[in-house]
Amino acid sequence: MKLTKAILLVGGEGTRLRPLTLNQPKPMLPVAGLPITAHQIAKLVSVGVNEVVLATSYQAAVFSKWLATQDYLDANISVVVEENPLGTGGAIRNAADYLNLDEDESVVVLNGDVLSGHNLANQITQFKSSGWSASIHLVTVTNPAAFGLVPTDKDARVLAFLEKPTSPEQIITNQINAGCYLLSNQVIRQIAPGTPCSVERDVFPKLLQSNFAIAGYLDDSYFLDLGTPYSYIQGSADLVQQNVYSPLIEFKQEALIHPDAKVAEGAVVYGGSVVAAGAEVGKDAVISGSVLENNSKVGDGVQLFDSYLGKNSRIENQLSLTRVVIGDDCLIKVEIPPGVRVWPNVTLVIE
Ligand code: GTP
Repeated sequence: MKLTKAILLVGGEGTRLRPLTLNQPKPMLPVAGLPITAHQIAKLVSVGVNEVVLATSYQAAVFSKWLATQDYLDANISVVVEENPLGTGGAIRNAADYLNLDEDESVVVLNGDVLSGHNLANQITQFKSSGWSASIHLVTVTNPAAFGLVPTDKDARVLAFLEKPTSPEQIITNQINAGCYLLSNQVIRQIAPGTPCSVERDVFPKLLQSNFAIAGYLDDSYFLDLGTPYSYIQGSADLVQQNVYSPLIEFKQEALIHPDAKVAEGAVVYGGSVVAAGAEVGKDAVISGSVLENNSKVGDGVQLFDSYLGKNSRIENQLSLTRVVIGDDCLIKVEIPPGVRVWPNVTLVIE
């Protein structure tokens, strides 16, 4: 069975991540200085994938622009645009049609917002030896009540795709879908072309009804859904510190400081922080677990923890901020409590 092609689902609006996704789609957000998409493609290449389709819709032009300038990924990468979003199921069919798969060919499909250390090569090996129609990466969670659940039998065959449980009796497993699928061409052809649908809620349950065998590949390595601001910030810090591996991060570091960034005397930057090109960190500032975007500026003596500072935004001297998300082009002159998100072009002052 041939498996050298992949589809990245990158067309969502990323509403939970606003304001970070107002100007760029979620998969293009930098984690450890490079787009989530780039890390995912590097992982795909490491297991023998050489052709990748980006299934886009929201802000599709941002992907094409990135693609035109990137030169470090060794794969043939294309962008397919859905004029109207097709949902995750419809998007797979649409991108697969573009890939023109052979009869016996299968594809890797990744949710474009997942950071995962799972062993994709092993998943592929299990899938090939099973001879089954599809494989889905599963992880176990400590709070199954918050997720759709995926029980399997003793042979790792998926039994059902259950909606989020509404009572304790419905929690019959703690396994959830981790967003990496291996799909045979035969399975993909079951998805109606041009029709919006969800792979998890529509396609997989229908496949089970039609007796297709789906393998659950349980691998509890590092897994993080980067769908919310704090998981995104965490994911970036984890990559910098190599708590999860990416072929694009050569070695473990306390912080990633761009050669065109400036960190003043006495400042300390650690905890997997990223200081992007043109950013400035003032004298004696302390920055931990944070992302400072291009041309942002942190004043002298500022303490900034587990936060995101957007492009061209500035934090005034001596402020202390924890778990805040500040959009692009903001000026922050006052302390704000943890959990606050500031939309772009806002100035916060004490009157
Ligand atoms: P929220 O709006 O915050 O829920 O985020 P999202 O819709 O961007 O992401 P969600 O977790 O719902 O989707 C999982 C993955 O599928 C993400 O990488 C999305 O980019 C992608 N995705 C979701 N809907 C579509 C779609 O209609 N078309 C395509 N091509 N991709 C999609």
